[in-house]
Amino acid sequence: MLGEQITDKKKSGKISKVVQSIPPSGIREFFDLVMGRDDIISLGVGEPDFTTPWHIREACIYSLEKGYTTYTSNQGLAELRELICEEIHQDQRITYSPDSVLITTGVSEASDLAMRAILNPGEEVLVPEPSYVSYKPCISLAGGTPVPMETEREDEFRLTPEQLEKQITPKTRAVILSYPNNPTGAIMEKKHLEELTDAINEHNLIVISDEVYGKLTYNKKHTSITTLNGMKEQTIILNGFSKSHAMTGLRIGYAIAPEEIIDAMNKIHQYTMLCAPITAQMGAIEALQNGNAEMEKMKKEYNRRRRVFVRGLNRIGLDCATPGGAFYAFPSITATGLGSEEFAAQLLTEQQVAAVPGNAFGKSGEGHIRCSYATSLEELKIALERIEQFVEKSLLGRN
Ligand SMILES: Cc1ncc(COP(=O)(O)O)c(C=O)c1O
Repeated sequence: MLGEQITDKKKSGKISKVVQSIPPSGIREFFDLVMGRDDIISLGVGEPDFTTPWHIREACIYSLEKGYTTYTSNQGLAELRELICEEIHQDQRITYSPDSVLITTGVSEASDLAMRAILNPGEEVLVPEPSYVSYKPCISLAGGTPVPMETEREDEFRLTPEQLEKQITPKTRAVILSYPNNPTGAIMEKKHLEELTDAINEHNLIVISDEVYGKLTYNKKHTSITTLNGMKEQTIILNGFSKSHAMTGLRIGYAIAPEEIIDAMNKIHQYTMLCAPITAQMGAIEALQNGNAEMEKMKKEYNRRRRVFVRGLNRIGLDCATPGGAFYAFPSITATGLGSEEFAAQLLTEQQVAAVPGNAFGKSGEGHIRCSYATSLEELKIALERIEQFVEKSLLGRN
C-alpha cells in the first residue's frame, strides 16, 4: 500500500499533468479482461473480422520485393494523393487538388494532427457523444478543451442544431462530426447536415469530419459535409482504409482540407512521423484502383449480420435503433435495471459474451452497450441466445 503510494508520487513527478489527467481508454481496460480467452464471444473489437483482401496484400508484398522500403515525401506518394482526389470526386462530386491531401498513419494520426494544427491553448472543440474514444484525449493533448454534446436516442443519435448551438462559446474553435458513428452506427443525411451549417458559418467553426466509416452505409449513401455550401473551406476530412478495406494493421489514412491547414498538419507530421509507411501506401493505391468489389462483398456480409443481430436485440427487449452505417449496434439495456458497466461485466462472467459498456463513449452512452457485428453470423446468433438468457435472468431477478 505504502509502496504503491510512493510509486504514485514518483509517477506524478515525472509525467505531465495533461497526460496524468487523461483516463485510460474504457475499451482497452475492458478488453484486457478478454485477451487470450477462447471461450468468449467478443462483440467488442472495432475492426473488421476479414483479412485484408489478397490483391491488396499482394501489392504490399510485391512492393517489398521490388525494394520499395524507403521514405516517401512527407505528404505521401503523389499517385496515392491523386487517386484519393479522384475517389472523392467520383463519390461526393467535389474537387480537391493533391496538395490538399496528407497521407497519415491511419485516421488516428490525422485526428491528432488536425487538433494540433488548429488549436490555441484553452480553445474548445465540440464533441458529439457518445463518440469514439480518441477525440477528447487528442484535444486535451493539443492544449484544447473538449466539450461534449450529448446526442439522444430519440434523434437516432444525430447531432441537432439545438445541441450544437447550446454549447458554442467565444472560445469554440471546432466541432467534430463522426458519421457514420462509432459506437451508435448513426448516420447524418444531407438534410440533417444542412441544419448545422448556419451555426458553423456564423461562428466560423472548423469542422473535423471523421468519415472512416463513410463507405460502410447500408441504405443511404454517405454525404460529406464538405459538399455543402461554404463548407469546403471550413472542413478537415479524416478518412482511411482501416474499416472499408480491412486494413487496420497497415496503419494508413489521410486528411483532406484547405491547403493552409494541410501544410500546417504536414509541418507537425514531418517532425513526428516523417511519412506513412511506403508498404501501406502501395497497398492503399491498390485498394483505390481495384478494391471496390471486395469492399462491397464485406459490406454485404455486414449488412446481413446487421439485420439479424438488430432484429434479435429488439426481440429480446433491448431497444436498438437501426444503425445506418459502420458495424456497431448500440442497444439500450435500461430495461434490465443494470448500469452499462454492471451489465457488461455480468454478461461477460455469466454468459461469456464481451460487449463494451456504453459509458466508455461518454456520459450519454450510459444505459447502453456497444456490440460490434464485425464477427461471424454464427457467433452473433450464439451471442443473441446468451444475451437473451442473461436478460431473462436479470428481469426475473427484478420481479
Ligand atoms: C470513428 C473512428 N475514427 C478513427 C478510428 C481509427 O482509425 P485508424 O485505424 O485509421 O487509425 C476508429 C477506430 O476504431 C474509429 O472508430
